[in-house]
Amino acid sequence: MRTSFDRLLARALRLCVPGRRQVLGIAGAPGAGKSTLAERIVAAVPGSVLVPMDGFHLAQAELERLGRAERKGAPDTFDAAGYVALLRRLRAPVAGEVVYAPLFRRDLEEPLAGAVPVPPEAPLVVTEGNYLLLGTGPWAAVRGLLDEAWFLAPDPDTRLRRLVERHVRYGRSRAEAERWANGSDEANARLVEGSRGRADLLVAE
Ligand SMILES: Nc1ncnc2c1ncn2[C@@H]1O[C@H](COP(=O)(O)OP(=O)(O)OP(=O)(O)O)[C@@H](O)[C@H]1O
Ligand SMILES: [Mg+2]
Repeated sequence: MRTSFDRLLARALRLCVPGRRQVLGIAGAPGAGKSTLAERIVAAVPGSVLVPMDGFHLAQAELERLGRAERKGAPDTFDAAGYVALLRRLRAPVAGEVVYAPLFRRDLEEPLAGAVPVPPEAPLVVTEGNYLLLGTGPWAAVRGLLDEAWFLAPDPDTRLRRLVERHVRYGRSRAEAERWANGSDEANARLVEGSRGRADLLVAE
């Protein structure tokens, strides 16, 4: 991880150009380690900000109204067009204007608006999520808004094991965790895998 991380960090630092906002996207299947890597990059690049795609999860009540709660995490359970609009704003910072991004609260299983302030001078915005490289629907516009895109492709067994452990840590029983990881999450994982060809860099841990 250390060698791989140092190489990735150097690449992120090289992206930064004085006076010009850069947007780095990190994609990959559920549990691939996107959030973990993005947090480490942002912690190491001065002034950078993490804006997760997950902040655009639709609220639970809206998913229920739409009858999509059972497949929370699928591409049509997010406000993809809202995410695209935010990326456009983030690419064109306005002097003196802080742009606010939402966050997904895994403990509440709900998004929270206005949670991440992005100051206009932030040199690098790191965004991460499952569907950054999808070529369908509103998602198709995301790739063109990223200056660079990485795709995380860890060993599949490792990814699945970490995903189940994380579900358990956030309160699911082991049986329920395995049901999600092998059911809903797995269908999404296949979709995500199909989009890896649009990345600039493939990261196999
Ligand atoms: N390099 C690593 N070594 C060990 N554990 C890791 C590593 N990267 C991630 N993990 C663990 O694996 C789990 C999944 O990682 P993470 O939450 O970063 O994945 P993700 O790609 O953001 O998943 P999701 O798409 O569901 O948001 C977490 O519990 C995390 O702590
Ligand atoms: Mg994540």
